[in-house]
Amino acid sequence: MGIDCRWSSLLPILLFHCGWHNYSPVSAVPRHRTLEGSVEQFWHVSDLHLDATYHLVSDHTKVCASSKGKNASEPGIYGDFMCDSPHQLILSALNYMKQSQQRASFMIWTGDSSPHVPVKELSTETVINYIDNVTSTILNFFPDFQVFPALGNHDYWPQDQLPVSANQIYAAVAKLWRPWLTDEAISTLNKGGFYSQIYQSQTTQQPLRIISLNTNLYYSPNQVTVNMTDPANQFEWLEDTLESSFQKNEKVYIIAHVPIGYLPYVRNVTAMRKCYNERLVMLFRKYSSIIAGQFYGHIHRDSLMVLLDEKGIPVNSLFVAPAVTPIKNFLHVDSNNPGIRLYQYDPSDYSLKDLCQYFLNLTEANIEKKPIWKLEYIMTNTYGIQNLQPESLYGLVKKFKDSHSDQFKSYYKHYIVSYDSSYVCEEYCKTTQMCAIQYLDEASYTDCITGGVL
Ligand SMILES: *[C@@H]1O[C@H](CO)[C@@H](O)[C@H](O)[C@H]1NC(C)=O
Ligand SMILES: *[C@@H]1O[C@H](CO)[C@@H](O)[C@H](O)[C@H]1NC(C)=O
Ligand SMILES: *[C@@H]1O[C@H](CO)[C@@H](O)[C@H](O)[C@H]1NC(C)=O
Ligand SMILES: *[C@@H]1O[C@H](CO)[C@@H](O)[C@H](O)[C@H]1NC(C)=O
Ligand SMILES: *[C@@H]1O[C@H](CO)[C@@H](O)[C@H](O)[C@H]1NC(C)=O
Ligand SMILES: [Zn+2]
Ligand SMILES: [Zn+2]
Repeated sequence: MGIDCRWSSLLPILLFHCGWHNYSPVSAVPRHRTLEGSVEQFWHVSDLHLDATYHLVSDHTKVCASSKGKNASEPGIYGDFMCDSPHQLILSALNYMKQSQQRASFMIWTGDSSPHVPVKELSTETVINYIDNVTSTILNFFPDFQVFPALGNHDYWPQDQLPVSANQIYAAVAKLWRPWLTDEAISTLNKGGFYSQIYQSQTTQQPLRIISLNTNLYYSPNQVTVNMTDPANQFEWLEDTLESSFQKNEKVYIIAHVPIGYLPYVRNVTAMRKCYNERLVMLFRKYSSIIAGQFYGHIHRDSLMVLLDEKGIPVNSLFVAPAVTPIKNFLHVDSNNPGIRLYQYDPSDYSLKDLCQYFLNLTEANIEKKPIWKLEYIMTNTYGIQNLQPESLYGLVKKFKDSHSDQFKSYYKHYIVSYDSSYVCEEYCKTTQMCAIQYLDEASYTDCITGGVL
């Protein structure tokens, strides 16, 4: 009796604070018995980049092909900051998600399964094997669970060169992802590497459409699409899909690998070619009333963007999830610990309420020989915001502007997923980050960078 009362009084906390997930009674709690209205959740994993060559040997240049001849730094069972993910790291992430017993409705997976190695070390066949391996591993942990995948620039051979019509890899992927997708989704996936699909909710009448874009077609290094106005007719399809969703009162989540907007760590560079970026920004502004969230990967760092309309009003929240792979890029001063995340939303309108970011301290995991995944932060708690709506995030960004903003210090710590670093992001670095967070189109971004219009 006493125990029952304690459990029920803890109920709202258990459901609203993902940090409490190890508290075992949570699994016994029926859905929606909260005082504050119902909340549902979904997982987001990105950039797993399996490196099947990873193995522990005394010659550190031979630990993984993805270190490209460089020495691994402190290689252990769960990986190394110079390497892509060993299979053990991917298993530990999925195992943690499963063991957490979080009641998630679905998972989004924003691509990149193969390792960062020179093109000649892979082939169409090995890239398909990597996608197959990661897909099968996810299916083994989560059979009968809805997953919405998106293709990454490393999910093709040669990397980045995703084509605008049917090919062996889109066909292989469409077959592998068959357990999760409808016939209609499979059909467009086969032709252009993108799809849309309604999420079948058991609990709400409000339809949610997942739009999984192949933004790799717009990625700057993609030579196949140079000079094309509408690669694979994805823009036309996207506009038709959004218009139809608008007419049918559907809500939309956009998922894709390569994000829109500017890179947060280098100035004046968009991930996509500028013309495609401008066009997507315009489309997303036009349909922002039905787009309840946008979710990306590719950058490997944890970052936010707020889409402003022409009048400067925040209209969309965008999230870039950090990678599972800890690999360090020569362009970055820092690396990232492996991360996975859980979003909380209101099922009545799919508006985003919160985000729980989990991470593996890779150094600790290797020393302890145990994959000790932990909660890194809960967004509303850490930043003192109400929810993840565009106005709330924009309010937060205004607090970042203070020259010694503790919120911005936290943001940068989370950007590198609590990677141990003495680097402090100030002045030039901070301005670059701040402009990328708020200004996604060329005109407003350039004003920000040149005029200091933070
Ligand atoms: C995936 O690859 C790893 C090697 O990195 C191997 O041990 C494992 O059995 C493979 N799993 C599947 C499902 O193919
Ligand atoms: C790797 O480390 C070894 C031992 O410290 C060193 O001799 C070697 O030069 C290093 N190799 C590279 C490519 O840095
Ligand atoms: C793209 O267009 C430019 C300018 O018209 C032209 O110089 C270039 O050769 C074209 N590239 C390709 C790959 O078609
Ligand atoms: C970025 O673009 C602005 C405006 O064109 C220019 O003034 C600035 O020098 C550029 N910065 C870099 C690092 O390219
Ligand atoms: C990660 O683990 C290392 C080794 O135990 C420790 O020194 C470091 O402080 C930890 N970092 C975080 C963010 O917990
Ligand atoms: Zn990646
Ligand atoms: Zn990528």
